[in-house]
Amino acid sequence: MSFISDKLNYYEKENKEGAAVKNKMISRFTFDIETIMMTMNKRIFGQDKAMNAIENMLKLIKADIADHERPLYIGLFLGPTGVGKTEIVRLLAEAIYGDRDKFCRIDMNTLASEHYSAALTGAPPGYVGSKEETTLFDKSLIEGTFSKPGIVLFDEVEKANEAVILTLLNIFDNGRLKITSGNTELNFRNSIVIMTSNIGAKEILNQSDQEGKSFNEDQTKKIIQEKLEEQFAPEFINRIDDVITFNWLGEHSVKLIIDQRLDHLRKKLQIHNRSVQLSDAAKNLIIEKGYDIKYGARSLKRAFRKFVEIPVADMLLRKSDSVDSLVFYGDISTDERAITFREVRENQ
Ligand SMILES: Nc1ncnc2c1ncn2[C@@H]1O[C@H](COP(=O)(O)OP(=O)(O)OP(=O)(O)O)[C@@H](O)[C@H]1O
Ligand SMILES: [Mg+2]
Repeated sequence: MSFISDKLNYYEKENKEGAAVKNKMISRFTFDIETIMMTMNKRIFGQDKAMNAIENMLKLIKADIADHERPLYIGLFLGPTGVGKTEIVRLLAEAIYGDRDKFCRIDMNTLASEHYSAALTGAPPGYVGSKEETTLFDKSLIEGTFSKPGIVLFDEVEKANEAVILTLLNIFDNGRLKITSGNTELNFRNSIVIMTSNIGAKEILNQSDQEGKSFNEDQTKKIIQEKLEEQFAPEFINRIDDVITFNWLGEHSVKLIIDQRLDHLRKKLQIHNRSVQLSDAAKNLIIEKGYDIKYGARSLKRAFRKFVEIPVADMLLRKSDSVDSLVFYGDISTDERAITFREVRENQ
């Protein structure tokens, strides 16, 4: 919906309802915090701190009481690879826009070289700055609409060179960015800005390896703070609303992710009148072979593909005489190195 018609609808609603609902605040933002959090909590596991921060962010934005001369929110998500940093942003876009790609993603890695650093303020035409195919700056994704905040993700922010960091400081300070190659000015005052970084992740993992036990929160905080100060100037750190360190995925979260993948696969199998189930031993094999704390859920997804999706695809492609609904039941093989599947009738 266009900005203007959004605005008109809002004022009309405000006039109509203003008198009747005196005490209930009407926000220009139409998203429902409870619905967003419910959706996100179903899909992201083991990241309570981050979810809490997102909920608080949404409250502040919806109440619309923050400073209007800067972005709506500036967050820095730290932590190891594959633990949900980008996924949270995708889910936020899905919850707000119904499309998990509706955010502007800038890959700082591609801006690391001097040659491309100018791309932020004066992008060469047609330049694509992201490995996930999001163009460098997409005005409409950044600015959002009157009733919806724009979402901007700066990935791997530690890779950005000084010129880029200065540009970011500018955006954080007054919520605007002048594009030198034209007359365009980008407005970030209606944007949720999230940066991600892996800084400190290696050090925390090393420390925990040496101690052979789980991570001490105070020590983790200290390491992160040191690393942050080493990497960024104080004026940069000071402008960030939230610095959130994501957790490594524990066994419980890993199991939930496997169940989530299974659900996803079941939905795909439905049209073929098939379903899938795994024994506990089979699930444990995926964790044992696939889960590496250093690679988070990414290595788990690869293991799931190898041990479950490929054999299931084989079963599907094999011609079956049965038109009944069947379940592909996976159990650990006798040599305990793979998962073997057989067809069983439902409820068997
Ligand atoms: N906590 C989690 N709960 C549920 N799924 C997760 C979680 N963490 C990761 N995943 C799954 O793993 C995939 C990769 O996660 P994501 O893209 O968020 O990694 P990341 O933390 O951004 O890592 P990187 O620093 O490498 O970019 C996601 O698409 C998601 O399916
Ligand atoms: Mg990421």
